[in-house]
Parts: sequence; structure tokens; C-alpha cells
Amino acid sequence: MKMLYDTKQITLLGEKNSEQKYLELINKQYYFAEAIKILDKIDWDFKDFTTQYLTHTFHSYPARFIPQIPLTFIKLFTKEKEVVLDPFCGCGTTLVEAFLNNRNSIGNDFNPLAALISKVKTTLIDESEFRYLNKKLDIMKRYIDLDYRRIDERINNLPNRKISKIFNRVVISKLETIRETLLEVKEERYDNLFDFGRVALSSTIWSLVENGGEIDVDDLFLKKVKYMQKGLNKMAKIVKDIPEAEIICGDARKLKVETDSIDLIVTSPPYVNALDYYRTHMYNMLWLGMDFDLFKKHEIGGHSHFITNRFRLLSEYLGDMLRSMIEMNRVLKKDKLCVIVVGNSSVEYELIESHKFFAEMSKKIGFKPVKTIFRKIDKTRKYTSADVGKIDDEYILVMQKIKNANISTDDDDFISEVVREQMIKFREQIKNIQGTSIRGRRPTKERLLKNIDKVSGAIETIHKDIRIER
Ligand SMILES: C[S@@+](CC[C@H](N)C(=O)[O-])C[C@H]1O[C@@H](n2cnc3c(N)ncnc32)[C@H](O)[C@@H]1O
Repeated sequence: MKMLYDTKQITLLGEKNSEQKYLELINKQYYFAEAIKILDKIDWDFKDFTTQYLTHTFHSYPARFIPQIPLTFIKLFTKEKEVVLDPFCGCGTTLVEAFLNNRNSIGNDFNPLAALISKVKTTLIDESEFRYLNKKLDIMKRYIDLDYRRIDERINNLPNRKISKIFNRVVISKLETIRETLLEVKEERYDNLFDFGRVALSSTIWSLVENGGEIDVDDLFLKKVKYMQKGLNKMAKIVKDIPEAEIICGDARKLKVETDSIDLIVTSPPYVNALDYYRTHMYNMLWLGMDFDLFKKHEIGGHSHFITNRFRLLSEYLGDMLRSMIEMNRVLKKDKLCVIVVGNSSVEYELIESHKFFAEMSKKIGFKPVKTIFRKIDKTRKYTSADVGKIDDEYILVMQKIKNANISTDDDDFISEVVREQMIKFREQIKNIQGTSIRGRRPTKERLLKNIDKVSGAIETIHKDIRIER
């Protein structure tokens, strides 16, 4: 059996640890019905499993899932060279697992930073190119302390928050020198190296934002470059017959992917009312010269609007997710699986069980829910969705495409109708019991009762709220 990654513990006295047993189980070949049964034999908590290996370590990313989730489905439900899609690929966890296991893959994400990270994690680079980069960085390192470029211009262009603390003049000048060195790399037509360097730069900026500037910028950047080179070189040794990985920076509600072309979808979409990725990655995108306005406008699950009635966010979210699922149905081959990983959220103290909404809606668009797997997230590990805050469990919804939906994602009447049905059910649910997701101090009864009216209000405006403004 070929181990896909280094297990942490060495087997003692021939006894296998749970990670090795898991790998043995998924590395066997099964018929479809058998493979579905194998899903019940897996301990989905993956407690103490190695989750950070090879290119997975390149860049921090909020709410990514652990590699074992896509790995399991890729191994059990696809053959080598078949195509795996992740329409909300984030930092590319699904794509890396597909790549390592000789499957072709397509990743889509509207966040330009996500698309860049995913691309770099699945693009092997020649040793000779790395030698060129290292020489270039050696020269940069020699002059970096003397180099004060465009600081004032940079300072004027940065958003106000936190800047004085994190991006002081020394930091700005160093980041600028690194950025300009990378631009030279691009000018010399080393496009893959340019992207590789930008991910290392972005990861350095992330560390700065998280650690408040107490970091030696160039030192950290150079360490990251070395570390990432090692990761890619190691990956090159594992991968045979390099698979294709295509990355699209686009909207999951209008996928630029061929109809009936995909063998498996594994994805974790954004959560409602949980996280604005464009805010989280603002500094990185700004520094990399990325235009994030389009992403900001079309990000699913964002929560900087509908302040007076938060339940309108829910109907908007359900509309967006329904459109995305219609697209998933369109591109997937018949009888193949679509796996959606999502946790619970909350809106105004009400529990939002997204996986239940998705399962219900999926039946209207040609999917059959096969099973829902519950997994506990180890909250002590920042790697998973726990860093979103309210989320400590997640659900893996496994659906099979049984027919073509034959519905256009532009069909606003259909989208409104399905969302309305879901919202009415939700209102009935909270009529019986309000405040199903309270943490900390309990709000007044009156406030909770208002939620019922608010949901009614949101139902009134569904047709408007689910529209996509292009
Ligand atoms: C939960 S994260 C996915 C994390 C991913 N599974 C990983 O392991 O890195 C959800 C992703 O959805 C993306 N997203 C939000 N709105 C989108 C849209 N309209 N189209 C495509 N992607 C979108 C976000 O940028 C974010 O990367």
C-alpha cells in the first residue's frame, strides 16, 4: 500500500494506528454500493490525524476543511484521471488531494487570492527555475535594509484600519522591495515563479496581520519560500504522470465548466452570516494588486448588509446556494456524487441548519440525498472551520445526481418559489420554539418573538433579495 502522506506515529509492535487503518480502508477498490457502506465505517472526527502536509501548509485560510474529507470521497468514488470539481475551492484542499492521487481537477473560487493559492499548490516547478529565484532573492536580501521605495505612495493607498500598528515604515518598505523583486521575475517571464512568490508574500502578510508586526519581514518571507520549495519538490516525487488542475476565478452560481463533465464534486460553501472573506483578505489582496470589488459584490454568505432584518440574509443565501447547486447538477455526470460540507450557523439567536435546507432543496433539482454524516470539529485546532467562531460541528451531505435539473440559474421565479417554501417551513419551526442557538446571555422573550415577524418580513421580500445584481 502506498502511503499518501507521512503518518505521525511509527507503528509499534506491528499494531496499526487509526490513521494507517483508515488509509488501508480507503485504498481498496469497491463497487459503488459497497463504497457507500464504507462511509459508515470511517471515524469522521479524524482525531489526531496529520492534516498539514506537502502544499497544504502553504497559506493559512479560514474555514478550510481537513484533507481527509475530500481524500475519502476521491479514493472511494473516482478512478485515476477522472475529474473532481470544487466550486468553492478556497485554498485548494480538494484539488491538492486530487492532484496527489492522480485525478484531474477543477477548482473555482471568486476570491482572487483563493484562486492564486490553489493554483500554486497544484503547479510543480522545475529545480532550475527555483535556482534562478533563489539567486534573485539572495541579491534582494543583500540590499533590502537600504532600500526605501515608494513608502509614502504605499501608505496613502492602504486602508486605515490597524495600519499604523502593523504596517510601519520599515515593514512597508520591505514588503515593497519583495513585491518589486517579484515583478522583475514576472517581467523575465517566469509566471509560475511569480505566482509562487506572491503566495509566499501573501502568507507573510497574513502572519504580520495575525501577529501585529512583531516579525522580521524579509526573514520570514525567505523562510516561507524555502519551506514551500521543499513542499513542491516533495510533491513532485509523489505524483506520477502529472494530473491536470484547472483553476477558475469565477462565480459558483455561473460555473465556466462543461455540462456533464465531472465525476465527483466535493466542496464546502460559505456559511450564512459567518465570515466576509473579502474583509479577511483585504490586506493581502491590496498588496498583491488584486481587484476585490467584484468579489465583494458577489461573495456568498457575507453579512455587511440587511442590518435591520438579518433573516433577509438567510433567503439571499438560500437563493445563492440553490443557484450554485443547480450549476453543480448541470456539470456533474449522471449517477455521480456531489458532497457538500457545511456547519450550522445562527441568525438572531436562531439555529440555521444549512445542511437540512440543502438536502430539501436538492430534491427539487435532480439530486437524491444519500446520507448526511455528522462530524465533530476539534476546536483546539485552528485548521478547520472552528475559527469562524460559532461553528463546532459540521455535516457532510452526500447527494447523488439522478437526473438533469434542466433549470436555468437565471430563473428567478423558480429560485424564489423554492426559497419561499424553505423560509415558510423555517418560520413554522421557530414559531414552536425560539432562540435555538443562544450562547451567553439570553435575550428577552419579546426580542425573540420578533424573529417570527422578521422572518415574515423576509418572506415578503424574497423575490427582490434573491436577485443577482450583475
Ligand atoms: C468555506 S470556504 C472553502 C474552503 C475550502 N474547502 C478549503 O479547504 O480551503 C468557502 C469559499 O467560498 C468562496 N466564495 C464565496 N462566494 C463565492 C462565489 N459567489 N463564487 C465562488 N466562490 C465563492 C470564498 O471565497 C471561500 O473561499
